[in-house]
Amino acid sequence: MRIEQNYSLLKHNTFGLDVKTKYFVEYENEADLQALFRDEYFFSQQFWHIGQGSNLLFLGDFDGIIIHSAIQGVEKIKETAGFVWLKAGAGTDWDSFVAYCVENGWGGLENLSLIPGEVGASAVQNIGAYGAEAAECIEEVHAYFLETGEKKIFSNAECAYSYRHSFFKEPENKGKYYITYVVYKLSKKPEFRLDYGNIREHLADKPVNLDTVRQAVIAIRESKLPDPKKTGNAGSFFVNPYICIAHYEGLKKHYPDMPHYPVNDEVVKVPAAWLIERCGLKGKTIGGAAVHEKQPLVIINQGNATGQDIADLAAEICRAVKEKFFIDLSPEVNFI
Ligand code: EPU
Repeated sequence: MRIEQNYSLLKHNTFGLDVKTKYFVEYENEADLQALFRDEYFFSQQFWHIGQGSNLLFLGDFDGIIIHSAIQGVEKIKETAGFVWLKAGAGTDWDSFVAYCVENGWGGLENLSLIPGEVGASAVQNIGAYGAEAAECIEEVHAYFLETGEKKIFSNAECAYSYRHSFFKEPENKGKYYITYVVYKLSKKPEFRLDYGNIREHLADKPVNLDTVRQAVIAIRESKLPDPKKTGNAGSFFVNPYICIAHYEGLKKHYPDMPHYPVNDEVVKVPAAWLIERCGLKGKTIGGAAVHEKQPLVIINQGNATGQDIADLAAEICRAVKEKFFIDLSPEVNFI
């Protein structure tokens, strides 16, 4: 177990904020995690478990313990003629995992290429992009319950996945389950999802296979989303809101070109990026924080932003969208 004191989290948050934590604790296996759960000092402090910090906004220094999983690696635990089951450590870098699957000819995650973060967070967030969601391939999730120290293996159904949501994000469960492994079931005979956005356009006349689809997704992401290694950001700052049909019909009279995706008979999803753009907020800055010009769902750190600048800009976006469209935006990013 690695323990650091008065430790900079600069490399542990993709906004690139140089905040400090009183303690940083990194565990390498389940035994270390169980030891942490037996530690009285740990429970006397405030603490928060992070992944790669790609969905976090630190508003200032953290007077407590930041915990990180260094459980890494991928093991093939089962195989049939059509599928493989891979048990991946929660601290495994997400895109390295996707690349490994693609190289081996195992399909299901290729549309989720280049998403920043780690395997553990993929199962909490139900990460999604280009018409695919992690939940479609998750077989089980191994997690320790903070309150009892016991391990539970969750089936896919028990994870209760929906758009960017899971059991682990429910208010009563949030921060209480520490995921150690995720078992993914991938297909040896992949079915490709090419209809979202401009994947087909990027593929042009190339053959359709796992590698070309991954490269197309990477090219699309790189053309729209800032690289967190160069420009601090946390990807989409807000989730796309659901609104009821009556609300949508009302707005459509004023904004007939408003994009929308039916969810069921009662609600539609609207792209937050469109709402933010229509509020005229592309490029808007507060302090060192700015609304990204190419994708306004993303807030960037122009280099000198504080966590508060980013939070203030997010609040301004929410206020403007509420005023113009009567829609409440919810942050996808966790404020710490
Ligand atoms: N749009 C605009 N102006 C823009 C950009 C987009 O009006 O400048 C509108 C367009 O109507 C466009 C729509 O927004 O069709 C959707 O845009 P995009 O395809 O870029 O996707 P998104 O809904 O903004 C979601 C995910 C992304 C994911 C993309 C692609 C959420 C919260 N975000 O964004 O995930 O990469 O789809 O599948 O669902 C992330 O979570 O960090 C992330 C980047």
